[in-house]
Amino acid sequence: MNPIVKSFFDTATATFTYVVYEKEGSSCAVIDSVLHFDQRSGRTNSSSVEPVVAFIESMKLRVEWILETHAHADHLSAAQLIKKQLGGKVAMSQHIQKVQTTFKGIFNLEGSFIPNGSQFDYLIQDDEQLLCGDLIFQCFGVPGHTPACMAYQFSDSIFVGDTLFPPDVGTARCDFPGGDASSLYRSIKRILSFPDETKLYMCHDYPPPGRKIQSFSTVALQRKDNIHIYDGVSEDEFINMRKNRDATLEMPILILPSIQINIRAGHFPPKESNQVSYLKLPLNIL
Ligand SMILES: [Fe+2]
Repeated sequence: MNPIVKSFFDTATATFTYVVYEKEGSSCAVIDSVLHFDQRSGRTNSSSVEPVVAFIESMKLRVEWILETHAHADHLSAAQLIKKQLGGKVAMSQHIQKVQTTFKGIFNLEGSFIPNGSQFDYLIQDDEQLLCGDLIFQCFGVPGHTPACMAYQFSDSIFVGDTLFPPDVGTARCDFPGGDASSLYRSIKRILSFPDETKLYMCHDYPPPGRKIQSFSTVALQRKDNIHIYDGVSEDEFINMRKNRDATLEMPILILPSIQINIRAGHFPPKESNQVSYLKLPLNIL
């Protein structure tokens, strides 16, 4: 059964959030929600996620899953806000433990933060099949951008996270801690081995001037036109391209706040004695 996909775009971070469902009144999954963060004031707000919640309520959907394709470095997850308002299980790849371990070290997090994934309601194994109401979805690891990247296939549609972008934008960077261009090449090849007409829903779009934002393309279009990994690009060529390109990219504006929230499944750090949560800024580390 093919799902219905409703997409939302957060312009501040160029991120897509998806609601995947069968029909009005059915179960649904929310993929990659965004909690707005104002860097200047340190305030969060629900402006990005409100249209998502309103849509779910208007369609009388039951949130069963709140999925993350990875621990994002460019926006905070609104998973806990959605869970609080609408229910659902917050889930992502079991390999989040590796990412948590890396960043627990980088941020010197409190001893009570255990990097075992227990902050999430459910850890998904590689190649696990799950149910969302009557929809079956296949989960598979697509490491490279991070070690815990996971794609979710609902019949003819795959939510590919940060692997491929629209063909004219290319592919995801591999220079964050734990990133690996060779792994990304193999992950993308796996995605591109699905039938030509398979729809690939992406996490981001950064359209060139004059082009409208585009949430999905197809396997055929990516194999023909993706500027980084069209058919015929070898693994070595891809790794070289990524290495050279990644060396020119600045860190995402929100990487430091995002990672600290997202490895906690969207929870804020524990409040200190004055009942305020704090984020850290490691100096000269990233
Ligand atoms: Fe990302």
